[in-house]
Amino acid sequence: MLQDKKILYSGMQATGTLTLGNYLGALKNWVTLNEQYECIYGVMDLHSLTLRQEPAQFRKNARSLYALYVAAGLDPEKNCIYFQSHVSGHAELSWILSCFTYMGELNRMTQFKDKAAKHADNINAGLYTYPVLMAADILLYQSDVVPVGVDQKQHLEITRDIAGRFNAVYGDVFTIPEAYIPKTGAKIMSLQEPQKKMSKSDENVNATIYLLDDKDAILRKFKRAVTDSGSRVCYADDKPGISNLMDIYSCITGKEYDAIEREFDGKGYGEFKLAVGEAVADSLKPLKARYEELLKDKAYLDSMIKNNDEKAQYYATKTLRKVQKKVGLTERIR
Ligand code: TRP
Repeated sequence: MLQDKKILYSGMQATGTLTLGNYLGALKNWVTLNEQYECIYGVMDLHSLTLRQEPAQFRKNARSLYALYVAAGLDPEKNCIYFQSHVSGHAELSWILSCFTYMGELNRMTQFKDKAAKHADNINAGLYTYPVLMAADILLYQSDVVPVGVDQKQHLEITRDIAGRFNAVYGDVFTIPEAYIPKTGAKIMSLQEPQKKMSKSDENVNATIYLLDDKDAILRKFKRAVTDSGSRVCYADDKPGISNLMDIYSCITGKEYDAIEREFDGKGYGEFKLAVGEAVADSLKPLKARYEELLKDKAYLDSMIKNNDEKAQYYATKTLRKVQKKVGLTERIR
C-alpha cells in the first residue's frame, strides 16, 4: 500500500478531550489529505505518559481520541489510524535514536523548558527525551511529510537532524521528513485571552471550546468571549478578540473576511458572537452524533483498531529490522 503515494504522518496526544483549536487547526484539514498522501495518524499515548495519568481516565481518553479522529471524517479504511503503544517499534527505535541524539540538542528544546517550568515537581527523563520518541514515530514509517503546528516545528527539525546524522553513518536508511504547511486552517486563540493559543488545559473554562461541549455551553462561551474596543466587526491586529472569532467563523463557514465584515456591517459584537456560536454548534453536531455512535459500536471500532494496528506494525517492523541490522545488532535466528 505504501508505494505510490508519499507518506504523511501525524498524531495527537491522548490527553483530555480535543478543542475547537485542535479541530480547526489540524484534524479538519487532515480529512482530505488521503487523496494525495498515504496517511498515518497515531493516538500518541506513550507521549502522554510524560505527565502522570489516571489509568482508567487515560484509557478512556485514548479511545475517545481514536473515535474523534473517525467522527471528524478520517476514514479508518483509507487512513491508518492506530495506537502508538500498540506498535512496540516506537519504543525500540526511540532507544536506538537516543544514542544518536546529543544532550546539547535536547537542552535547546523550548517545549521541554516550558513543560519543565510548568511541572517542576515531575521533570522526568521522558519529558526530556520526548523529541526522540517523536523522531522515532516519524522515521519508523519513512514519512515524507508531517503536518505540525508551530509549537512542534523544533521537534521536526531535530527529527531531520537525527535522521541525517544516522544516514551519514549508515547510508540512506531514513527518509528525511518535511514539514507540511496546510493551505487552510488557522491558529485558534483562547476566547478569554486572544493573545494565547486555545489550550486543552486552560484553567478558565470559558477560554476553550471542547469538541464534545453541548450547544448551550458553546453558545455561553462565545457570548462571554473577550472582544475589543470599538463595535465594528473587522479583522485587525489591534482587534485580536474579534479577529479570532472571525477566523473561527471563516474556518467553519468558508466565508472570506470581507464577506464576514459585510455580513455584520452595522450589527454589534453581541450579534456576531451569537452567530459564531450557532455556526460552531451546528457544525459540531454531526461530529458529536457520529462520535457517540462509534463509542457504542464496540465491534466496529475494535476491528478498525486491530486492522490498523497490524498495518502499522508491519511497516514499523520493516524499518526497525533494517535499523537494527545497520547498527550491528545480532540478527534473529529463524
Ligand atoms: N508532540 C505532538 C504534539 O503534542 C504529538 C506527536 C507525537 C506527533 N508524535 C508525533 C505529531 C509525530 C506529529 C508527528 O502535538
